[in-house]
Amino acid sequence: MPGEGLGARARRAGILFGTAVDSGRLQDAGYARQIQAEARLLVPEWEGKWAALQPEEGRFDFAPLGTLLDFASRHGQQLRGHALVWHQAMPAWLTTALASGPARSHGVLVAHLDAVLARTAPAIRDWDVVNEAVANPGGPFLDETPAIGELRDTPWLRALGPDYVALAFRLARERDPTLRLTYNDYGLEGDTPFAEEKRRRVLRLLRRMVEAKVPVDALGLQAHLQLDEPFRPEPFAAFLQEVRSLGLALLVTELDVREARAIPAELAARDALVATRVRAVVGTALEAGCRTVLTWGLSDRDSWLVRDREVARRDGATHRGLPLDAEGRRKPMWQALADAFAGRGG
Ligand code: G3I
Repeated sequence: MPGEGLGARARRAGILFGTAVDSGRLQDAGYARQIQAEARLLVPEWEGKWAALQPEEGRFDFAPLGTLLDFASRHGQQLRGHALVWHQAMPAWLTTALASGPARSHGVLVAHLDAVLARTAPAIRDWDVVNEAVANPGGPFLDETPAIGELRDTPWLRALGPDYVALAFRLARERDPTLRLTYNDYGLEGDTPFAEEKRRRVLRLLRRMVEAKVPVDALGLQAHLQLDEPFRPEPFAAFLQEVRSLGLALLVTELDVREARAIPAELAARDALVATRVRAVVGTALEAGCRTVLTWGLSDRDSWLVRDREVARRDGATHRGLPLDAEGRRKPMWQALADAFAGRGG
């Protein structure tokens, strides 16, 4: 059925497909139409983070998230939560509070989870509880904060110590016994020394959490793929198998593809490389038991890869790392996802 969207095709294979959504764009009829046509699961691009939800201490603003909840409800879609604890999108007051010692830090975390989980519980049943807590092993990634042990040196770590990750999951579970609690991170897919070491660190964190009976349910693989990194299914599949052996579910949470300057300029060749990589990575995740796949946007026009100077192409060309082009037309990446959901052409 040519008109059928990715969400409907994924559903036939028991897979939930969706995308990140920016509530500020929903007034754009074309943007809203794409989301309705392609997605069955939505994730807030920024509306579920501290900067949006609690811009000042004690003043909660659920309006932007509510816009997404209303849209999802009107279109029979689900919404997942992102992100309860992260070292970015932190309002200034939170940074100050976290520098004031463990008691105050614990207090603000409890107050945030109390308010946010109570307010969103009926609609949001899956949260990225902690995002990007593991330190990058000195790779080419952008945010090279020094590591303490294997955890990224963040205001959360400094305030509450290495157990802040377990604390966040325990506090979330105390507030909602049936919420799916996800640990979310990036840089886990490539066939590189960086990715291999990051996978080792993430696996070590998850194993320690499971052994300590910390209530973690799933690993979110952001999957911000980089074409200038090699990929082989085997090391990625082995990692996913280890994660599954801990009893954890797998989600692909933020799929998109960054391109190296070096790849061919010709669009069809670029799109073919993107599609091949997406088919390989998503196919490997699905074979390991992943049943939730989200892209970080649907159209190249709306991608952070185009907006964010830190990842935008230096040569003025725009990345083509999402299923739809800037005009909303389906690209080979769209077909690669459809094929992965159908188990075709792996
Ligand atoms: O437009 C809103 C404004 O109305 C609102 O009051 C304000 C509240 O913070 O946000 C405004 O816009 C910006 C928003 O993107 C929408 O474009 C925010 O200023 C800006 O901080 C926000 O950036 C987001 C960033 O995370 C930080 O939250 C990007 O869109 C989003 O793509 C990016 O996504 C991250 C994932 O959460 C984690 N993984 C990496 C990924 C890419 O960096």
